[in-house]
Amino acid sequence: MKTIKVNASVSYDVVIGEGLLAQSGNYCKAALGKACRLCVVTDDNVAPLYLDTVTASLEAAGFDVFYYVFPNGEASKSAENLIDLLEVLAENRLTRSDALVALGGGVIGDLTGFAAAVYLRGIRFIQMPTTLLAAVDSSVGGKTAVDLSAGKNLAGAFHQPTLVLCDYTTLGTLTPEVFSDGCAEVIKYGVINDRPFFELLKSGVRSQIEEVIAVCVNNKAKIVEEDEFDKGTRQLLNLGHTVGHAIEICSNLTVSHGSAVAMGMVIVTRLAHRLGLCPAEELEELIALLKQEGLPTDCPYSAEELCEIATADKKRSGDTLTLIIPYGIGNSRLYAVPVDQLPSYIQKGLSA
Ligand code: NAD
Ligand code: GLY
Repeated sequence: MKTIKVNASVSYDVVIGEGLLAQSGNYCKAALGKACRLCVVTDDNVAPLYLDTVTASLEAAGFDVFYYVFPNGEASKSAENLIDLLEVLAENRLTRSDALVALGGGVIGDLTGFAAAVYLRGIRFIQMPTTLLAAVDSSVGGKTAVDLSAGKNLAGAFHQPTLVLCDYTTLGTLTPEVFSDGCAEVIKYGVINDRPFFELLKSGVRSQIEEVIAVCVNNKAKIVEEDEFDKGTRQLLNLGHTVGHAIEICSNLTVSHGSAVAMGMVIVTRLAHRLGLCPAEELEELIALLKQEGLPTDCPYSAEELCEIATADKKRSGDTLTLIIPYGIGNSRLYAVPVDQLPSYIQKGLSA
């Protein structure tokens, strides 16, 4: 078991271990100070697998628990569902001393975190990630959001959790595709600034899962502590995401987040190579590692299709958009691109 402290505007522990959901009551009581009323938010895939275990442990520790179950999938991360959840919290008279629990992947974590950020102008929430992506990325750092029709994560808030309880035995019930999605975010940390970690990943993600999650959380904690509100360094975590989000939208959300990020990372790394910034062998190493973990590396959309969406990206500021460009594995940097030149940059990153 490993515990990593995140010292952002709020300090909290990320506890990583096996079988933690069965002990979630005691962990939550320690983090929240005392038992209170808790709403556990989850989805209809996760509920039959883990909701009873969590509820039983919370109740045994003295919590008064109710729950709310959303349909699984990105479409649930909507403004309508946010309002539904807020209404449920109010109907159930949740007060400022109570809290939410996000039991699930990044969709449930982002939606629940945003509800916690705005309900009564902010109450506490606990993340219990059950996907690899949520374990290594979305549960840590306090970015919460819902999607709007114009794009992903366009409404949200920074709101740090009070505890992240990562029971990685839950990853055993993921489909291979959802596990692979998380691998894209794992590999991202290596490409951003951690060449030794990238090398470690060549021996496989699954076989060293506790170490892999801990390294990612440590790397993310350092970045969040330096730039919690995404003014500079934290933008490095968006490696592959500007193009990735555009791919997700072009596909009507049929391409998953992790697959889209994998293709996005390849596009910006190929762009870096064609700008003379990144050696060809490092692009090939990235493609090989993504393939090893079952991820796609070729984007089916044109530069025009991607740019139409990418120009509405949150990272746009006036006439420039900041891409994250790997100058090599472990050496990624912010790179401002004039918006009117974005199509030619993305074209350079697409194959052939
Ligand atoms: P997800 O939450 O949709 O989960 C993927 C699928 O796995 C769902 O069908 C879910 O029901 C199922 N599932 C979850 N846990 C399971 C388990 N243990 N066993 C079996 N099935 C399980 O997707 P995700 O990949 O976890 O997260 C993607 C979301 O995270 C996107 O909305 C993305 O924008 C967001 N995200 C947020 C941040 C952040 O910093 N807040 C970072 C990266 C991604
Ligand atoms: N996943 C991007 C961030 O947390 O900043």
